[in-house]
This record gives sequence, C-alpha cells and structure tokens, in this order.
Amino acid sequence: MRYKGNKVIEEGKQGEATLVNATTTLENTKKLYIESYGCQMNFSDSEIVASILINDGYATVADYKEADVILVNTCSIRDNAEQRVLNRLRNFQGLKKKKPDLIVGMLGCMAERLKHELVEKKKVLDLVAGPDAYRDLPKLLQTVESGQKAVNVLLSREETYADISPVRLDANGVSAFISIMRGCDNMCSFCVVPFTRGRERSRDPESIVNEAKDLIENGYREVTLLGQNVDSYKWNITAKGEIINAEEPVVKFAELLEKVAMVSPDLRIRYSTSHPKDLTNDVLETMAKYENICDYIHLPVQAGSNEILQKMNRGYTTEWYLERISAIKRYIPECAISTDVIIGFCGETDEQYTETVDLMKNVKFDFAYMFKYSERPKTLAERNYSDDVPEEIKASRLQAIIDMQLEHSHLSNKKMLGKTCKVLIEGISKRSEEKLFGRNSQNSVVIFDRDDLKKGEYIDVLIDDCTSATLFGKVTHKYTKR
Ligand code: 5AD
Ligand code: SF4
Repeated sequence: MRYKGNKVIEEGKQGEATLVNATTTLENTKKLYIESYGCQMNFSDSEIVASILINDGYATVADYKEADVILVNTCSIRDNAEQRVLNRLRNFQGLKKKKPDLIVGMLGCMAERLKHELVEKKKVLDLVAGPDAYRDLPKLLQTVESGQKAVNVLLSREETYADISPVRLDANGVSAFISIMRGCDNMCSFCVVPFTRGRERSRDPESIVNEAKDLIENGYREVTLLGQNVDSYKWNITAKGEIINAEEPVVKFAELLEKVAMVSPDLRIRYSTSHPKDLTNDVLETMAKYENICDYIHLPVQAGSNEILQKMNRGYTTEWYLERISAIKRYIPECAISTDVIIGFCGETDEQYTETVDLMKNVKFDFAYMFKYSERPKTLAERNYSDDVPEEIKASRLQAIIDMQLEHSHLSNKKMLGKTCKVLIEGISKRSEEKLFGRNSQNSVVIFDRDDLKKGEYIDVLIDDCTSATLFGKVTHKYTKR
C-alpha cells in the first residue's frame, strides 16, 4: 500500500535516478548514474552530490548501463530497505564483469553501517562515503581511479556542505527541499539514525535563507525544510543553552521558519519532521501568523501505549501527545496532521496494540505512515529487548490499522467537499493529460481541469469530489503574481 505525502519513504520514488540538466560543458565527459532510497533527505543529498560531481566534470545519466560511475544513496531504517539495495548491487556487479573500469559506490546510511562488510569482506564496492563525506567525493573517486578502494564514512561534528549550492532541478521545478540540520541526538530505541547520521548539527540560518531566495528567483514556489528533528534546530547556542556569540542573535526553529517565510509571500513553506516532545507553541504561533507556512504537521506518535513509548525511549506520554494535538488545533484550526506508527514493537501485547488503535481513532490523522517493527543492529532495542511479536501478528495488526487509516483519510477528504482551497500547481496529472494536479496547504493532492493554467501558479479550487487519497474540483480563481 502506498501512502501519499512529501515526507519519509515514498514507495513510488524508491530507486529513482537523480538527473540534473545542469549547464554541463564539453569537459563534463564522465557519466554518473545516481539512484536513491529512503527519506527525502537522501533525495535532497543526491542533488548535492550531483552538484559536487558536475563541478568535477561529470554529467548525470538515466541508464546505469551507460555510466562510468554508479552511486547508490542508501537507507538503513528498516531491513527491507537494505535488502532492496543489496539486490540492486548484484545487478551492478553483473555489469562490472563486462565493464571492469566501472566504479560502484555507496552513499548514505548503509554506507556507515556496512562499510567493512561490503568493501573489505565482500569486495562488492569500490567506494563508500557516509552522509558527511560528500564533499570528499571527487578525491575519493580519484583514489579509486588510481586503483585503490576508497572509504570515508567518518561522521563529522560539523556541517560539511554549508556553502555548496545544490543544483535544484527537481522533476517538477516547483517544490524543493533544503536540509536545515543533520543527525539526531534522541536515541529512540528502535532507530538506527543516530548511528548512521551521527550527532545533531544545525546549519547557518543565513545560508538557508539565501538558498530559499535563490529558489524563488529560479521559479520555485515551495520549499520543505528537512531535518530528523526540526524542532531542536538551533544556531548560536549549544545543546546546554550556552550562547556562543553574544553579539549575534540566537536562532531557534520558530525564528528560522519566520525568516524563511519572509523571503516571499509567494514561497510556500513546509517542514518535516517534528518531534512531539519538542514541538513548541512558538512554532505553532509562527505557523498561524504566516499564510505561506502550510497548515500541515507531521508528528510521529509511533505508539499509543505509555509502556511501549517508554520502551521506545520517545520522551513523552500519550497524554502529552494528545495535548500537543489540541495545541495545534487551537493555534491552527485547519491544520492537517500526519503521523508515523510502528506496530509489533518488542513485547507489544494485544492491549498495548489496541491502545495504538484507540489513539488513532481518537486523533483521526489525515494521513499516516505505518510500519512493522524491524529490528536494527546496534540500536537500544536490539540490545535490550527481544523482537518477539510473531510475523503473522505483526502483519495482521499492520493491515488492520492500514484499513482503519484509509477510512480516516477518506473522512478527512470528505470534510473538504463544498469548500474552496488554495492550490499550488505542480504539474500534469498522471491519469490524464487534460488535468493538472497540485496540493493545498494541508498537503492533499487536488486534481482539476488543465485549461490554460501552468505549474507554479496559485489557484483556488472548489472541491466537489474525493477519494481517500485525492480531492477533485473546479478552478474558481487564479492568483496573479505579487
Ligand atoms: N522499524 C520500523 N519502523 C521504523 N521507523 C524507524 N525505525 C524503524 C524500525 N526499526 C519508522 C518510524 C519513523 C519512520 C521514519 O520510520 O516510524 O518515524
Ligand atoms: Fe530516529 Fe527518534 Fe531521531 Fe527520529 S527522533 S531520527 S526516530 S532517533
């Protein structure tokens, strides 16, 4: 089952190639094929990697069989994500037999996790670069060309690509992503991210604002600020609360949001992911204050049982979570809320699972991303608990919440019938050339007649039909550029 949204793992995008039609010159003779798995942050990183390598004489290609260098940007969050990449590597190895000079490299979270195994033991890779080593890629590739294997997966303590301007030619040319921070200090017991992405580091707000300005000048109309835990974004202040430079302002997430929102009223702002324990009222206040900050929050709950939340080391209770949901509705009554849920975590009883079902019934999320627990090496859960919920029970619990969520999503869409919403046009509908699609502020996909409208324009649509995944309507107004 595929769930929509612009966050986390979009099934339809897994394994997609990053292609950049950048102004390459005659010197861009080496061919790079790069494909990505996992979260939006990885897709955004692949653009950065492409940008670095284009400056180093590469051009991107759509077919890996044409490539001189193949890079796979990987994800470790669940075991099936890793299995998929390992299968893919077998295809690339097959090609290498015919093309011995082909370089195959791995980036991202699996690189950090499996570097020794894949380079030294199995010798299936020529190059491995962790999420903080992308700036090093030209050097690492030269090392490989000279006949050695190259590994750089040291997780750095600082941002390493702050002044590299990514080549932002996403497929639709309307919406783009900016990573505002990296890593995570939370140590949720099921999660491998703190091990693969390292400690939390935030980027300079000025460089983020400059990227947003650049985007709007290049025709983009929407930007999503990305981070593992955006609510703990901080600049010029340490994790302990000590100000670093007294002459400069401290910037936390609410201030950063405001700065980006002020770049242009025509630039929509989204962000992901929030953490329930860190989502503060000043962020909600800022969202309510700016029309161009979208009414949409992704707030992963993970479980509805306090015992399970504690074992997950999430740092909040269901009561706290529900209070945060009320706060969102208080500040932003129209706000859509999505979540992540894991079922079948270590020791999850029928009662504890039912508490998750009850929480989902209570909140009625607009969307949800739902997962079976998948044990990950080195995590606290792997070390402390046993992954003891049988696979059949995990599967039936997951199916039951997916079916329930489908109804909730349908219900949420039905509430839009007869209402008008402002939509940013993203492109031509997959189903019909005569239709366009876009998203409303709440992140729902809206389909309407093409007429003489173009992507990147804002329109009002009166909603007259819906499914659980999509809204349909008639265009009632077209906004002119401010
Ligand atoms: N097993 C299942 N789901 C997981 N997630 C993270 N780690 C695991 C795991 N080990 C889910 C969480 C997180 C989302 C990005 O992926 O719900 O919010
Ligand atoms: Fe993983 Fe928890 Fe950090 Fe999210 S907040 S990345 S789930 S450790």
